[in-house]
Amino acid sequence: MSDNKKTFAIFGNPVEHSKSPQMQNAGLKKLNYNGIYKKHHLEDGNNIKQVFLDENYQGANITVPHKEFAFKNADEVRGIAKKIHAVNTYINENGKVIAYNTDAPGFLKAIESFGEVKNVLLLGAGGTAKAIALALQEKDIEVTVLNRSEEKLKFFKNENITSYSWKNFKPKKYDLVVNSTSAGLKDEYLPCDKEILEPILKEALYAFDCVYGKITPFLALARENNCEIKDGEDMLLYQGVLAFEYFTNTKADEKIIETMRKGLKGQ
Ligand SMILES: NC(=O)c1ccc[n+]([C@@H]2O[C@H](COP(=O)([O-])OP(=O)(O)OC[C@H]3O[C@@H](n4cnc5c(N)ncnc54)[C@H](OP(=O)(O)O)[C@@H]3O)[C@@H](O)[C@H]2O)c1
Repeated sequence: MSDNKKTFAIFGNPVEHSKSPQMQNAGLKKLNYNGIYKKHHLEDGNNIKQVFLDENYQGANITVPHKEFAFKNADEVRGIAKKIHAVNTYINENGKVIAYNTDAPGFLKAIESFGEVKNVLLLGAGGTAKAIALALQEKDIEVTVLNRSEEKLKFFKNENITSYSWKNFKPKKYDLVVNSTSAGLKDEYLPCDKEILEPILKEALYAFDCVYGKITPFLALARENNCEIKDGEDMLLYQGVLAFEYFTNTKADEKIIETMRKGLKGQ
């Protein structure tokens, strides 16, 4: 390795499936940046900060199941991540570990291609839902959370976000419906009962699924009901682009972004 070469990584368990290295390395190459981005399988999230420093990584992304551990271990957390309590990006700033959440702004960037959105129904209450709900709230976009079970709703209630389980849901009209559950990822389930979902989609304008690279049952039902639909590719791309900007201390232009998109798609 040459002297100034910087090393970046993605921490996950499992991490083998991650498309971040192909996306980030495409961007680094296009920028002529002397760096490499690799996969790092991490068993115990409690060690994340020490491993990050020991490996002399200049930056890293963090994926399932380590985002909360990464938040707790950072020296300093910046921006909306302080409210989300989960981070997906680490930066080494003179030996200090600085943490960010780029999933939240990545989601906002991904829905920009829809028209104006005032009102969102967010399906799911996991880690991704937390980032999306707080990103929307920060933009003054009204958000309602609907989840299969009651337990995970406490976080949203504490943030003054209207939230329901399937049992007590009182629907209204929404511009955009977002699936942030894992239904449709490895199965063919809808994120909630068709009897609940279909009348909502009939009245909605847009539907977004965090799952990427396929038309999930949710997106298929939304399309049948005349919604404009979008999968999670742009969300994945833009969280990566924003992390890339932190890693390289540059502003990614359209050429870099499109190169990263091609990298993501393995083109
Ligand atoms: N495109 C991107 O950049 C991007 C980024 C992050 C995540 N994602 C995707 O977002 C999804 C959620 O990830 P996460 O990390 O937030 O997961 P998570 O923390 O495990 O949360 C999963 C959520 O899905 C709900 N759920 C799971 N199976 C369901 C089903 N069959 N029907 C209804 N609800 C169901 C769970 O409800 P209960 O509380 O009732 O269990 C929970 O609210 C995944 O598909 C992931 O791949 C995409």
